Amino acid sequence: MKGVILAGGLGTRLYPLTFATNKHLLPVYNKPMIFYPVTTLVNAGITDILVVTSGPHAGHFIRVLKNGKELGVKHLEYAYQEKSDGGIADALRLAEDFADGGNITVILGDNTTDSQIKRHVENFDDGALVFLKKMQNIDQRKRFGVAVFDVKDKTKIVSIEEKPHNPQSHFVATGLYIYDNKVFDYIRLCQPSDRGEIEITDVNNRYIADRRLKWVELEGFWSDAGTFNTLFAANKYWAEKDNHE
Ligand code: G1P
Repeated sequence: MKGVILAGGLGTRLYPLTFATNKHLLPVYNKPMIFYPVTTLVNAGITDILVVTSGPHAGHFIRVLKNGKELGVKHLEYAYQEKSDGGIADALRLAEDFADGGNITVILGDNTTDSQIKRHVENFDDGALVFLKKMQNIDQRKRFGVAVFDVKDKTKIVSIEEKPHNPQSHFVATGLYIYDNKVFDYIRLCQPSDRGEIEITDVNNRYIADRRLKWVELEGFWSDAGTFNTLFAANKYWAEKDNHE
């Protein structure tokens, strides 16, 4: 399986920090943010990786990641998304040639987790697998994609709502997904959302409509690091974990 890390966008929620460099290169305790998703993939046995980036600091990635060897990556490629505010699914579109007809594990460059996803990668056949995380705080949930479950069958997802005012469940979509090659056909069908982005949630909803989406709960710690609060939370978690080991 190949892996794709989506590390584009302007990181506007972290201005003024992201005037200096790309969000995914900011420190999370003792490492640049993007080291965490790279390590999640490498630990899952994925060593053939594409980083999709955008914006004015795209050149900084090569200075930090180089060819990825120090992190256990065997083959590292870069792609540049011209429309830096085009959205996650618009960035993923650039991975079509790299995927070369195969399945891909996709992770957002600002997601950090200590979960091991190797068995899910190895057992994946086709369709889509999304990793959900239970979140108690309703205000926090409103910032994410939130799963809606069937009223009769609480294990069956009927849709995912992007940043809902009224979250219908406690389960948020993390930025970790496994897709078959049909993902690129689904992306082509999507239109920009109200915030002007091609939403990964729309792609996932198309998989749901075709009854081709499965989900699992992500174990362990997970946090994005794309806002000041979550960047701080991620720094705190990884610093404490490191000091206890
Ligand atoms: C994105 C996705 C959202 C998901 C989140 C996870 O949100 O659109 O569905 O829950 O990543 O980090 P964004 O970071 O673009 O606001």
